[in-house]
Amino acid sequence: MDSFLIRGGNRLKGSIEISGSKNSALPIMAACLLADGKTTLKGVPRLSDTDSMSKLLGELGCHVLRHESPTDARQTGPALNGPLDIEVRDTTKNEARYDIVKTMRASICVLGPLLAKRGHAVASLPGGCGIGDRPVDLHIRGLQKLGAEFRTENGNIIGTVPKRLRGCRMYLGGAQGPTVLGTINVMCAAALAEGETVLVGAACEPEVGDCAEMLNRMGAKIRGYGTPEMRIEGVDKLIGCEHRIIPDRIEAGTFMMAAAITNGELVLKNCNLDHLIAVTDRLEEVGVRVARENGSVIASSTRHLQPIEMTTQPYPGFPTDLQAQLMALLCLADGSSFITERIFPDRFLHVGELNRMGGRIRKEGPTAIVQGTKELQGATVMCSDLRASAALVLAGLVARGTTRLDRVYHIDRGYEKIEQKLMAVGADVERIEEPSRTSSVNIVAAA
Ligand code: EPU
Repeated sequence: MDSFLIRGGNRLKGSIEISGSKNSALPIMAACLLADGKTTLKGVPRLSDTDSMSKLLGELGCHVLRHESPTDARQTGPALNGPLDIEVRDTTKNEARYDIVKTMRASICVLGPLLAKRGHAVASLPGGCGIGDRPVDLHIRGLQKLGAEFRTENGNIIGTVPKRLRGCRMYLGGAQGPTVLGTINVMCAAALAEGETVLVGAACEPEVGDCAEMLNRMGAKIRGYGTPEMRIEGVDKLIGCEHRIIPDRIEAGTFMMAAAITNGELVLKNCNLDHLIAVTDRLEEVGVRVARENGSVIASSTRHLQPIEMTTQPYPGFPTDLQAQLMALLCLADGSSFITERIFPDRFLHVGELNRMGGRIRKEGPTAIVQGTKELQGATVMCSDLRASAALVLAGLVARGTTRLDRVYHIDRGYEKIEQKLMAVGADVERIEEPSRTSSVNIVAAA
């Protein structure tokens, strides 16, 4: 397992290209199972999660090909990615195995497309993960309302569609609000169902809208995405298309906080500030300047950080996926901050590790009280999940001395070449590689 050595104290300055969104790319790749012919996706980040999705699609009969990187005139930063082609060639294999599902919960996104297109799907039930309990009951309920039937056998969900799926009006919200991947799963299935589906309580995240736009390019008839009520008029057939994945708002927010915590200034290219309105609102109250300039976004701070209160919420509220990173930043604020987690109430594994670096954080139920301190210190810390790991990277960038971050495979799931991007703007981050790491090849999966 690779580790990072981060020697803290460098002020970050320069420009970073934001990658395509992981959380858009994964369900969009799964949605390609719905189409006849080839789909070409641009901006799919090279991550272990997108590799896992490619592998899963390969096992489900898709040919997945990553093209060479385009010529790149930039001086710094990692190479740009070539497009990814996905084409279904064999429709006889319908199982998402435990080995893949356990490493990547987004595997559940193949369920809706497989049921709608092939009438049969087997998916290993995802268990809990580093951020707590992650049920899929809303996915199943929504698909059942469209007419799919399910049974559970040996840890697998087995779904069948006796007749064609049939559109209906349904409520998709749960106790913690809407479900992002559940909305996408049901939307994908409804795209090929007979008649109209109305999803009330749909998730409004930009990643849902990105998938809806791609499906519309394939010939689907989806309206109202980005609002809690979506209307999907089922069609008989979807045809492969070309689509560019939206920029990763969580990666962008993480780098805004990297600028802020190091007293630096970063220019973020390919950053959609409209998707980050709650984040910029909170960061501005902390004392971080975020501004649009010449088509890019500039984030800077003089590191006189003010304490704030923040509660995570469904979009357009502050995203749970930036809660840990904000906590790292607020460790250095001038007073006590209150962070409440409303989406995944157990998503606090980073608290203990940040405290090992000198943070003063106390948990009370779903709230963390972060007492600001003047300095963090380097330590050996362990990544527990993707965003918790990003918080530890931020803390390491500013800590006195060296931070050793173990199990960075969690970061590799969701941040494309993070150490290269950070080094290009002045950070001192070194990857200690596990000897067995292999380089990736272009044909990621073949049917
Ligand atoms: N929930 C249910 N039943 C369900 C599904 C969800 O009760 O069937 C609950 C969850 O337990 C949670 C809430 O609903 O309390 C919202 O979960 P959601 O379904 O929206 O999460 P998700 O779709 O599984 C995606 C992202 C997560 C992100 C959440 C919330 C992907 C691949 N994952 O997960 O991203 O935290 O939405 O925005 O898109 C990450 O990138 O680090 C990450 C965990």
